[in-house]
Amino acid sequence: MERRIVREGDPVLRKISKPVTEFNARLHELLEDMADTMYKADGAGLSAVQVGVLKRVFVIDVGNGIMEFVNPILKKSSGVNKIKEEGCLSVPDKYGFVERPEHVWVSYYDRNGNFIEEQKLSGYAAKAFCHEYDHLDGILFIDKATKIKKI
Ligand code: CO
Repeated sequence: MERRIVREGDPVLRKISKPVTEFNARLHELLEDMADTMYKADGAGLSAVQVGVLKRVFVIDVGNGIMEFVNPILKKSSGVNKIKEEGCLSVPDKYGFVERPEHVWVSYYDRNGNFIEEQKLSGYAAKAFCHEYDHLDGILFIDKATKIKKI
């Protein structure tokens, strides 16, 4: 079920999200609602905080299907991403240029609590991961962006 997307200016977007401790039906419902919300809004990623839930959870779809990350950790990164342009469903009226790594090595839990110790993401997926990862710590792309333009 689609949820309401929190917009820039709402203080919840600046809060630090908390780790998930229970991998239960409530988490699964949150993940499904986040996917519905992201697809409906035509986005490539969405963090739980963007629907007002302060949990370290985000979803990404950069064209290869849904990816779910619970309690993710960015372990290592390298390179410079070729994609500069960036936007955010919580900041619908702006876009800008943000430099992100080309490759990231991440760990996370899946929705059932299985630990994925290392996964490499590259290109658009690496960029999307970094953008969503920032949301977990209250950081928005406009904090880092240059050449911010109003749409
Ligand atoms: Co965003």
